[in-house]
Amino acid sequence: NKPKFSVEAITAIIDADQCKKCGQCAAVCPYGAITWQKKDIARVVSAACTGCGTCAGECRFGTIEMRHYTDHAIYAQIDAILENDPMEKIVTFACNWCSYAGADTAGVARMSYPPNARIIRTMCSGRVNPAFVWYAFKKGAPVVLISGCHYVDCHYIDANRSTVRRVDGLWDGLEKAGLRPDRLLLEWCSAAEGPRWQAIMEEAEKKRQTVTSEEVDNTRA
Ligand code: FES
Repeated sequence: NKPKFSVEAITAIIDADQCKKCGQCAAVCPYGAITWQKKDIARVVSAACTGCGTCAGECRFGTIEMRHYTDHAIYAQIDAILENDPMEKIVTFACNWCSYAGADTAGVARMSYPPNARIIRTMCSGRVNPAFVWYAFKKGAPVVLISGCHYVDCHYIDANRSTVRRVDGLWDGLEKAGLRPDRLLLEWCSAAEGPRWQAIMEEAEKKRQTVTSEEVDNTRA
């Protein structure tokens, strides 16, 4: 009944002309903020959208854009990370609320860990579209890490369950493509767990060191 109320600035936008009417975005939205009916385009109720980006992470057609966390910006970050010495880099997606904050905690506590990770911050791990991961591998990433809040702690109800399902699919896809699935890592870390972030970084770096340039070249092919 309020005459005015504040809404999230980071919201999803669906390109109505490109929408394939599959309804997958509506199915994964933890807030029911997308309306969809069979054979109709999906529509975002902006006032109900919290900006997790799970819908954009789910869309296979690149039809959904997130304000402030656009696909274009994420691809540009991947490009920049892998522009020089890609074999040295660990492309790391970290959710804003827990894993990115966990990295901050490790930094503030001056914990030392391998410096190879390059972090791309997203609001939720659910924002990570599998296409980003394939793109990073094709651009020469030896290892990709997706990190988020612990399973029941996702800031957006249960959006990181979509992350788990997608990563499962990516592991299968990598195997089918003849690539080592363990080059894609999935880790959970809370904002308070600086030591855990340190351990994740150490493990990721160990993994990176096992990846050969032949493997990376095969990924590119
Ligand atoms: Fe951290 Fe969803 S907000 S995984």
